[in-house]
Order: sequence, then C-alpha cells, then structure tokens
Amino acid sequence: MANYENRFFALFKGLALLKKVGKPRPVSDVEKIVSSPDSRVKLKITLRQGHLSYSIFKDGSTIIGTSKLGFKFKNFTPLGDHLALVRATEKSVDETWETVWGEEHFIRDNYNELTLYLSETTKENRLFTLRFRVFDGGVGFRYELPPQPAFSRVEIEDELTEFNVDLSSDSWSIPAYQPDRYEYNYEKKPVYELDRPVHTPLTIALKNNYYISLHEAALYNYGEMTLKLDEWKALKSDITPLSDGIKARVELPFNTPWRLIMIADSPIGLTKNHVMLNLNDPPVEDFSWVRPLKFLGIWWAMYVGEWTWASGERHGASTSHALEYIDACRRLGIKGLLLEGWNDGWDGDWLENGRTTNFLRPMPDCDLPGIAAYAAKNGVSLIGHHETVGFVDNYEAQLDSAYKYYASLGIEYIKPGYAGSMMSIQGNREFHHSQLGVLHYQKSLELAAKYHICLDVHEPIKGTGIERTFPNLLTREGARGQEYEGGALSPSHACILPFTRLLSGGMDYTPGIFDIKNDVKRLSSTLARQLAYYVTIPSGMQMAADRPRFYEEVNPDVFKFIRDVPVNWETSHPLMGKIGEYYVVARKDRDSDDWFIGGVTNENAHKVRVSLDYLDDGASYTAEIYRDHETAHFRDNPLGIKIETTTVTKQNFLDIWMAPGGGFAIRLKKNNTE
Ligand code: NOJ
Ligand code: CA
Repeated sequence: MANYENRFFALFKGLALLKKVGKPRPVSDVEKIVSSPDSRVKLKITLRQGHLSYSIFKDGSTIIGTSKLGFKFKNFTPLGDHLALVRATEKSVDETWETVWGEEHFIRDNYNELTLYLSETTKENRLFTLRFRVFDGGVGFRYELPPQPAFSRVEIEDELTEFNVDLSSDSWSIPAYQPDRYEYNYEKKPVYELDRPVHTPLTIALKNNYYISLHEAALYNYGEMTLKLDEWKALKSDITPLSDGIKARVELPFNTPWRLIMIADSPIGLTKNHVMLNLNDPPVEDFSWVRPLKFLGIWWAMYVGEWTWASGERHGASTSHALEYIDACRRLGIKGLLLEGWNDGWDGDWLENGRTTNFLRPMPDCDLPGIAAYAAKNGVSLIGHHETVGFVDNYEAQLDSAYKYYASLGIEYIKPGYAGSMMSIQGNREFHHSQLGVLHYQKSLELAAKYHICLDVHEPIKGTGIERTFPNLLTREGARGQEYEGGALSPSHACILPFTRLLSGGMDYTPGIFDIKNDVKRLSSTLARQLAYYVTIPSGMQMAADRPRFYEEVNPDVFKFIRDVPVNWETSHPLMGKIGEYYVVARKDRDSDDWFIGGVTNENAHKVRVSLDYLDDGASYTAEIYRDHETAHFRDNPLGIKIETTTVTKQNFLDIWMAPGGGFAIRLKKNNTE
C-alpha cells in the first residue's frame, strides 16, 4: 500500500501528466490487437464512440466475445463512457524467475503488454489506465487509477468488467456468499444457469474445445471478484460488497487486481498455467528462511471423537499427548506437529467464544513453553493454531502479541482459522471475501513475515498468487477438504479440484487418513488414493493427517510413501485428466533426482498408461508402486492395496488400474549409474 509520501509523489506525477497531455484530442474508433508470444492468443481492444471493450481469440476462434469495461462510483459519474485515447505504449517481456518453493523451481514470464492511457472527453476529464498482458497461457488486465485533483478518494459501487463467453458452455463452480465460504461441492452447469454469483477460478469448457478459467491475480485492498450473469445475460464481475453495499473504498493511486483469463487446448493444459503467479510481483524482502513442511497433528483424533478440542479427560492438546506426538514425529521422520485446542476458547460454545478468545492463554493441562522446548530438542517444528471464528476485531487486538508470543517460543508456523459464517470487523458483519476481509488476511500475513512465521490459512481468502510476493503463505484451505469425509465428499471432488480450485494455488487438503473405515468419519477413498493426494494436491505444508498409530502399527509399509514424498518440487508434468473423472500428474523432487506420480479417479474404475518419457536419458529408476488391489473399491474394500517394486527407464510405460474411488502413487528413485 502506498504510504503518504508515495501518494504525494504519485499525485504530483499525475498532475504533471495531465499538464503535459493537456486536453486530449478525442481519438475515437481505435482498435488495437495484441498477440501472445506464440501468436495463438489475440486480444482485441476497441474504443468506439467513447466506449471501451475487449475480446479474446485463440487460433482465430472466439474465447471471450465483446465485453465491457468500466466502473460505477458513489458521488461521481461512471467511468467507461466518453473515453479518448491519450497514449498507448507496448512492451514485451521474456524473463525466468526462481521460486522460493512450489510446483516449479523456475517459471518463465513471457508476454506482450499494451497500456492504454485514457481520458474522458467530458468536463470531468478524469484519467485512467488499462494495462493488458497477453501470454501464451491467457490474458491479464487491470485498471489503474492515477491520483487527480477532484478524484482522489473513491467509493466503488460496481466494477463493470464482463467476460462474455458462449453461454451454452459447461462450467464448474461453487456458489459465493454462502456460510461455509468456499467449502462446497462443485456444480457442473451451463454458463446460462449462473444467475447466482459464483467464486473464481470459474472453469469453462468452451464449445469450440478450448478450456478457460476466469480468475484474478494479486488481490489486495479490494473485494474479491465473483461472477454472475447480469440482466442482459452477460457474465459480469460482481465484487464482494462491504456491509454498507460499497464494493471498495480506495485512495488513488489505485490498481485493481488483475482480471485473468487462463486459456488452454485441453483440461490438462489448464493445470500447467503460470499466468497468475507471473501477474504477481516478486518479493521485496528475503524469504529464504521459509521452509515447506510435512506435519502430524493433534487433529483427526478430535474429528473421530477420540479426543476433544475442549478441556476435560479427553482433551487433545495436553502436554502428554503433545510429547507423545513429538516422539512419533521423530520416529516417523515428520518434521512438524500441529497443536489444535491448546488455548482458551474451546469450552462451551466455541463458535460464540470467538468474541473473546485469548490467544496467549494455554489450557491448564497444556504447558506450551515445555512442549515447544521438547519439540525444538527433537527437531520438530510446532504449528500453532489460532481459531478466530471470524472475530477479526478480537483477533486483531491481540495479533501482534499473539505472533510475538509464538515467536518467543520458537514457533515458526501458524494455522489461523476463520470458521464463522461471516467476519466481525469494526463492529460489522462482513464477508470473508470483502475488502475488509482481504485487508485483514494481508495484515496477518505481513505481520507473520515480520516474525519469520509461515502460514497455513484455513477459511482463507482465495488464492490469487500473492504467495509469490509473500512466500511465507505456504498453503491455504479454501475448498472442501478431507474434514468433509464421512458423507459429504464424493470421489469426483478430488478429480475436479486440479482443474478449478488448485489453479489458484496449493491446498491443505489434509491427506493421509489410513483409518478409512472409521465409523464416525468413513472415507470415500481407497488407501492408495490417500497417498496419491500428496502429488495430485500440492501444498507448501502437507499434513499426514491420521493418528500416528495407524502409520506405525497398522500400515508402516504404506506410510513409507508419505515419509518419502517431498513438499517442494523442481518441476511438474500434468499427464492426463478429465474434469470430474480422473487426473494424473508427475512431479520431480526439488532436492533429489526422484520423481513422484499420483493419480486419482472418480467413483468409476479407470485404467491409465503412464508414460515415463520425462525421466533422464540412459538412467534407470526403481519404481515403488502403491496401487489399488484388483478387489479394491472405495465402498467394499477400501484398504485393498498392492505395493510393487520394479525397474524402469524412460522408454517404459506403467499400466495402472485405479479402483472405483481409488488412485495410485509412485516413487521413481534414480539408480546410481556406477
Ligand atoms: C475448520 C478447519 O478447517 C479445521 O482444520 C479446524 O480443525 C476447525 N476449523 C477448528 O478450528
Ligand atoms: Ca475449513
């Protein structure tokens, strides 16, 4: 956010520009075309009779038909009519940058940019800028509002951006403005049925066989963009309002988040798209201290009713349980431990208690400093938990002291949670994904960075790639995860996520439940599929979510995969997939020569032929294959698993059968050539 000095400087620059430009000669009927570096994607921008619109094509086929741009403000006339082009600039960028962690070590940022400096032809004579970037993988654009004398603080009533796609195309969406935030099952329906707002990424299979996902990048200080058909049947941005109906209050200069259209030739092509991250800025400080992590948790034992968050005989986060779990971490080779229910707030009605929860007061049977010291001695990082229930006022009053407290104990990871249906901010009930919600998430992220703390945010704001700028945001939830097992998750869910939610970044899905047949939380999954998730659902923090005894006593051979699988990747090769049906991906470890492959299917069995042509030339690999047994089935025989070992080279294929609700995981360990 610009500080006072920066704003003053920008205002000065804006005035200088206005002076230089003078009263622009109206330039009407302008048409500009920008192509992607491979020339297949074309963006057309048209200024006709003062109205600006854009459209997008791939290989000559329409991706986005003519779509409007502009704003409505409180106390000002709308911006978007009566425009004239003052100046247009173009540039091309082709750079490669290194990630701190993630699905790729190096990412190429390659685009052609067009910037339009516009001015109104009316007496208001306001200025605004539109910046477009055209990549091989899609298009990003944003509005930039420079400071100007009579127009410096604005209340945005509506953003008019449209995305006119073929209405008969199928789409996969979750509803917006709902009490469970992003935690819904995806619905497949034609775009013409999207008359209620949906969250992005909104993935669409166009009738001309291109696949697109509409989303946004770099969401700061603004309401999240949801999408909905307007009364004219245009798919339009619907910015999440504040409690008084205003979409965002901003001071100029202000740049909106990037509006993003990812474009691919196939569903699997969509899953290797780095435009969102490329539209975010590099970090401004050193984040080399950030460490991706695998962790156990005092957690699933609560979900299956063995332990409780609340105090009492079965209290989960007691000192003795924590020490037991730290010992288990050491034995299992897992470097992190999540501690839920350690502090005040869980007794009685925890959803109401959030108003006054104290984030510095451990439960009487939880010696947090003692646990932290024991964890440090054993090389285990604790993940502290903050369940705010959305009571942001209460949380923000303690934010600095709560983070400082963890930092003083050497706790370098926090899982904040916002389980309420709304947030309570400045005494009002606000949507999690409103501008005030976005500002809160950002405040806690920046404060965490100050204390060198990494976050795994539950009930978060959706991902828009800001982890490029703040890599201490290691992961987030923001979709239905395994805690919804026990009836509310179907096997197709994990076959939809890679093409929708995961386009916005990694997810803490909490994989690795081995106690699949548990009466309280019966999973719709086979055992092999639990391993697949570590590859199909990337996350900078990856949980081994079950209780340690299931790993150590029940299935130690199966657990080996969880111990071996990394959380940080050198590169990723999505191999095949159909939205809601199946998905297979291969990823190379960032710290070794090993490759890992994961695959999942929906409620139908599916056979795949997995190619290995990305392996090193001339090298042989030991393939450790964890696959569904021929008799496996997520309902009848979920534990049926086969572990096989074979030697392969890049010339081989692996034929793998996935059971209904099943999956597979493979480790390819490179053999020494000597
Ligand atoms: C919802 C979170 O997703 C879950 O992980 C957590 O255990 C509960 N809230 C309680 O904080
Ligand atoms: Ca949740």
